[in-house]
Amino acid sequence: MNILLAGSGGREHALAWKLAQSRLVTQAGETLYATPGNPGIAQHAELVSLDLTDHAAVAAFCEDKRIGLVVIGPEAPLVDGLADSLRAGGVPVFGPSKAAAQLEGSKGFTKDLCERTGIPTAGYVRTTSLDQARAALDGFTAPYVLKADGLAAGKGVVIAEDRTEAETALTDMFGGAFGEAGAEVVIEEFMTGEEASFFALTDGATIVPFGSAQDHKRVGEGDTGPNTGGMGAYSPAPVLTPLLEGEVIERIIAPTVRAMANEGTPYSGVLYAGLMLTAQGPKLIEYNCRFGDPECQVLMMRLEDDLGELLLACAENRLAACSAPRFSADTALTVVVAAAGYPGTPKKGGTIAGIGKAEATGAKVFHAGTALSPDGVLQSSGGRVLNVTARGADVTEAQAAAYKAVDALDFPDGFCRRDIGWREVAREQDAG
Ligand code: AMP
Ligand code: GLY
Repeated sequence: MNILLAGSGGREHALAWKLAQSRLVTQAGETLYATPGNPGIAQHAELVSLDLTDHAAVAAFCEDKRIGLVVIGPEAPLVDGLADSLRAGGVPVFGPSKAAAQLEGSKGFTKDLCERTGIPTAGYVRTTSLDQARAALDGFTAPYVLKADGLAAGKGVVIAEDRTEAETALTDMFGGAFGEAGAEVVIEEFMTGEEASFFALTDGATIVPFGSAQDHKRVGEGDTGPNTGGMGAYSPAPVLTPLLEGEVIERIIAPTVRAMANEGTPYSGVLYAGLMLTAQGPKLIEYNCRFGDPECQVLMMRLEDDLGELLLACAENRLAACSAPRFSADTALTVVVAAAGYPGTPKKGGTIAGIGKAEATGAKVFHAGTALSPDGVLQSSGGRVLNVTARGADVTEAQAAAYKAVDALDFPDGFCRRDIGWREVAREQDAG
């Protein structure tokens, strides 16, 4: 069948790489399309230029090319209802409806759902004005956790060390620092513990565990400095033991999927739970309605099954008939190579070479923010540029393999953290 993949980052390159190996598209006459894609994705898919906000145009393309499955990578088109528009035309879509994507699109929506169904998460108050938010701070203690309700490209969360900082942040948020996303602000209790991510595929009824990961959100080594979209990740996350994973499914994922179905807005797609492993057990930090970026890259590196078949089964409500996805017992680790200046203003246009050399070490280099110059030279075009991904028997080995590949790259305008996976590497050293 023909498949259309929407998106242009490292997550979508990893999805394209696995989808291109799917039985669904490997026969003659079957094509994997991607829009808008990137030069890495172009190695596996035919790139097409579609405006994802023009649902009618995407639907017309699907009809014209007899697309049998659309896979939507990023959150914005999901929250915007692209899946609904395509399903209305009879196209199977991997990704939630607009109503279900509220789990990422509105932090307040998710907090209310947690409260209604008893899902463990931080205490919270939803506020819609600066005065109301200021007054609500009385009910919390420092550090204050302040979140713009809507989508803010991962930048809508402020952890304020004291009351003055919190009031300044609230003033900024209600003043439009995050645009419409900050018209409502959720104030939360501060939770302590180690963070981990858990992924599940669901068609609205059946839930299939789809791996765990940990990422590094801060730009600087030792997890310091400003927040980013993620500077690296590894999978699995050993801190999420099978016992804890069972608890996460039973107490967090299953009640969410049940509640969404009962309320007439079944959730279909991948549900990505950001978790805090607290002394009282795992608590939900937030949901995302898509794969993590760069978490997807490490999951795909370990997935041993046909991704196309799985995503199609999910889109067609057939997950109950599928066997559990198999992942390699290896660890996969990805190092994000970013452009100088990231997460501020990244320097664009830096020349990238050495990907072949890096991949000759056995690693896989996913393109996250690259473009070809008019004369065909690979250049950086975004903040996060490459995701250098490798496998090993444990985190220590995967880390060594990933940095060996990083060191084979020739990208003078790029930088990366040299300590991705440090927590686990330290634990492995202690253990062994
Ligand atoms: P989010 O975008 O909701 O995942 O938040 C971004 C980051 O802020 C998380 O990865 C946590 O490190 C931190 N964070 C969010 N909510 C809380 C909370 N209630 N307590 C402590 N840290 C939090
Ligand atoms: N790496 C975090 C995210 O995809 O939201």
